[in-house]
Amino acid sequence: MTILIKNDKEIKKINKSCQLASEVLEMIKKYIKPGINTEQLNNICHDYIINVQKAKPATLGYKGYPKSVCISVNDVVCHGISNERELLKYGDILNIDVTIFHNNYYGDTSKMFVVGDYISKESKLLCLTAKKSLYKAINIIKPGIPLNLIGKTIQQYVESKNFSVVRQYCGHGIGKNFHEEPQILHYDSYDTGILLKPGMVFTIEPMINIGKHHVYLTNDGWTVKTKDKTLSAQYEHTILVNNNGCKILTIRKEEYNKI
Ligand code: MF3
Ligand code: CO
Ligand code: CO
Repeated sequence: MTILIKNDKEIKKINKSCQLASEVLEMIKKYIKPGINTEQLNNICHDYIINVQKAKPATLGYKGYPKSVCISVNDVVCHGISNERELLKYGDILNIDVTIFHNNYYGDTSKMFVVGDYISKESKLLCLTAKKSLYKAINIIKPGIPLNLIGKTIQQYVESKNFSVVRQYCGHGIGKNFHEEPQILHYDSYDTGILLKPGMVFTIEPMINIGKHHVYLTNDGWTVKTKDKTLSAQYEHTILVNNNGCKILTIRKEEYNKI
């Protein structure tokens, strides 16, 4: 079990892939409207990544995953598969998760979008809590802290808002590999003894539900849904641990001065 420490040259390349991934999320925002289908959103992202960014959508063909981005609507927790019959409607919430492969390195990020101007208070609070739980975790990151403090911080915050944290899926080290060690749990777990070190790069990507934390895999083999059919929200950033604390490699312009 090895956690790779990245050097400056590698960090530069990871940072580039990360920035490309966040630019896809910025680019797609204006297309998210009632009546568009998720396959159209997938295709717009795909074309942008290939033709404009000259990069690769890492999920396409990954272990057989069929799409260029993951689009997870309402009670879909993660790994949703876009479909032309899936039309967005007013009040829907969705996560778009983009992983870019460029110059042999990966960058991974996701965020929530809401469809139309009307959105229920509860959906709004769910999305905000997912985002804030990620920011709270980011804000404690510095060399020397135990890895499991990340999950502890997220769980404590999410449960204080009476939402639940999904257990089955976690964040991950990233770099030359899409998924590498360590696993980043989003809930409190036993102390592995792992301490954060400068040069570690990993994602934090809490999935939180309005109802219970239980989820199930649907029969397409990918789409994960909440068992109790309540809404789920997720935000994801790729983070570099540095000497002072950390750097959010997938930061978007809208987040400058907000974290
Ligand atoms: N981007 C997802 C993550 O955050 C992984 C998607 S894998 C896929 O780790 F195969 F579902 F695309
Ligand atoms: Co990830
Ligand atoms: Co992701």
